[in-house]
Amino acid sequence: ATNPRGGEVKMTKIILDLDMGIDDALALAYALGSPELDLIGITATYGNVLVQDGVRNDLALLELFGRPDIPVFAGESHALAKDGFEVLPISEFIHGTNGIGDVTVPDAAACCQKQSAVDFLIDSVAKYGDDLVIVPTGAMTNIATAMRRSPEFAEHAHIVFMGGALAVPGNVSPCVEANISQDPEAADIMVRHGKDVTMVGLDVTLQTLLTYEETRKWREYGTPAGQLLADATDYYIKAYETTAPELGGCGLHDPLAVGVAIDPTLVTLLPINLKVDLEGPTRGRTIGDENRMGESTTTRVAVAVDVPRFLTEFMTRVGKVAAGL
Ligand code: RIB
Ligand code: CA
Repeated sequence: ATNPRGGEVKMTKIILDLDMGIDDALALAYALGSPELDLIGITATYGNVLVQDGVRNDLALLELFGRPDIPVFAGESHALAKDGFEVLPISEFIHGTNGIGDVTVPDAAACCQKQSAVDFLIDSVAKYGDDLVIVPTGAMTNIATAMRRSPEFAEHAHIVFMGGALAVPGNVSPCVEANISQDPEAADIMVRHGKDVTMVGLDVTLQTLLTYEETRKWREYGTPAGQLLADATDYYIKAYETTAPELGGCGLHDPLAVGVAIDPTLVTLLPINLKVDLEGPTRGRTIGDENRMGESTTTRVAVAVDVPRFLTEFMTRVGKVAAGL
């Protein structure tokens, strides 16, 4: 296969399941700038935004980044155990009301596909099997719904998700990470029923930080894509100055999951069967499943990351998209 940005290389097919906020946009740019990846579609989930606003942002950014040909599929609009969804004030504070730092990006000419995100996920795994990796970076409802409908999907899907916190505190409560908190039941189904699931959580994503120094480089390209990436990420860095000033930058959560999908050696993986707590004060916590200790493992958790190597990969790949190549 030929990647428009990378020439002749062996490519892995990828689906991004995004709640299109600012680091989701960076994950999209990372995927588009990666010669190893063939992005076959985006499935929209909710979290940083409502699902319909995620669809709009997905289409708008694909057009801005020069790939309006990539299809977008609308996903489930709320958690399995709820009737509706409203964006949390903290999500709005970090990602802006529109999800992309309140930076204006025109609506795309392209429209959302008629097929549902869940059907697209199930069909794609049936079609591509081991050649496909799915990277969820928001609420996991689409993935869990696909697993409930199709045991074959659960059996054959390769999943690298951003979410959870194993050995560090959460970011919405002392032990709960934001993506898991949106739909703990869905995340629990995913980690207990999936046969190949990798967790890229706060243990590693809060070590990979970006600062104004890097975003300045994107702005200097003088392209619409570079301008958007720089302005939106500056909004995100500014929010981190309030929510986590000790870090000195913003967390590259979702891009790191894409990085690990391409190259798992960027992180150290701990094989451990996971579950998500569903009851009591720890609801939403990702932790080892005491009922599956000693069984062969179906999940693994990133517990250390090669920060300099990841940041170099990140800047090279996102830089290509920012430059408009
Ligand atoms: O906890 C970080 C995660 O929550 C990221 O995926 C971010 O985009 C939000 O969805
Ligand atoms: Ca996200």
